[in-house]
Amino acid sequence: MFNIFLTRSVPVEGVKLLKHDQRLKLEIYEHDKPIPRRELLRRVKGKNIIISILTDKIDKEVFDAAGASLKMIANYAVGFDNIDLPEAKKRGIVVTNAAHTQVSESVAEHTIALMFALAHRIVESDHYTRSGKYHGWEPQLLLGSDVMGKTLGLVGTGNIGMMVARRLWDGFGLKILYTDVKRNTVAEKTFGAKYRTLQALLKESDFVSLHVPLLPATHHLISDAQFKLMKPTAFLINTARGPIVDSEALVRALKTKRIAGVALDVYEEEPGFAKRAQDATYLQHAWNAILTPHTASAPIETRQAMSRVCAQNILAFISGKRPPNQVD
Ligand code: GLV
Ligand code: GLV
Repeated sequence: MFNIFLTRSVPVEGVKLLKHDQRLKLEIYEHDKPIPRRELLRRVKGKNIIISILTDKIDKEVFDAAGASLKMIANYAVGFDNIDLPEAKKRGIVVTNAAHTQVSESVAEHTIALMFALAHRIVESDHYTRSGKYHGWEPQLLLGSDVMGKTLGLVGTGNIGMMVARRLWDGFGLKILYTDVKRNTVAEKTFGAKYRTLQALLKESDFVSLHVPLLPATHHLISDAQFKLMKPTAFLINTARGPIVDSEALVRALKTKRIAGVALDVYEEEPGFAKRAQDATYLQHAWNAILTPHTASAPIETRQAMSRVCAQNILAFISGKRPPNQVD
């Protein structure tokens, strides 16, 4: 019998698969809120498998609290920067993520939605209209810009970056520039993407979109020096991980009009909007900043797929197979 602990309710499809398997006993944290740390440490004791969400910090303390019975962490997220992977490896604990093409699709769509919302000033215009300011058509009211034919600079060309590029190249004729740790010949061949250094990409792009994981090498990848290279008409979109962008430098760039705007789904501090409170307050009131609450993967199709992926990985693991989403 495998004892599983799920730290917070998730959409049901995968949960059902686990509930119907006689080899498993599933325990779910009862409240729909983040599990308090002490409760987490208490509840994992003696469990074989933990299904964690990305706000749970899964580290040495959790592994110690669970004890030697712990064999697997199935993370209900694509990113796994909430897990101490080297420590898990040292202890022979298998870690899986919830990567699935459906998740990449959702994040790519959200990224594209944010680009259009920035260029067409959708959020600001909605607020303007609702607040009773619209008194008739004006030739120069809320002037924006088009997306069509612009230059997209992709930082990272994994699954998500590739989907963003493909759709914008095909649908809106964007010119695609990219930077990555290695050349992406598929991107070059299929939509004529051009490789650039990060510096060159920042200088030439109208939209800069981040699609790299959070690693020591990508922490504050975009900071003062990088904002200085961007066009004053350029927009930055971050649907990857918050700390890739230096939030203090971002606010400086917005205040001094170094860039035209930003759309964020992830933040240097979550649930806050920035590392420093005054920067968070600035972002909250800036109309050229669009802020979504880490919901790029929130379409129901995706949250169900993530639930199935977690279950499929667990079922593979308990059958003695290598889980398809094992990360190492
Ligand atoms: C969301 O950010 C995820 O990594 O799934
Ligand atoms: C996940 O693997 C799915 O069933 O789509």
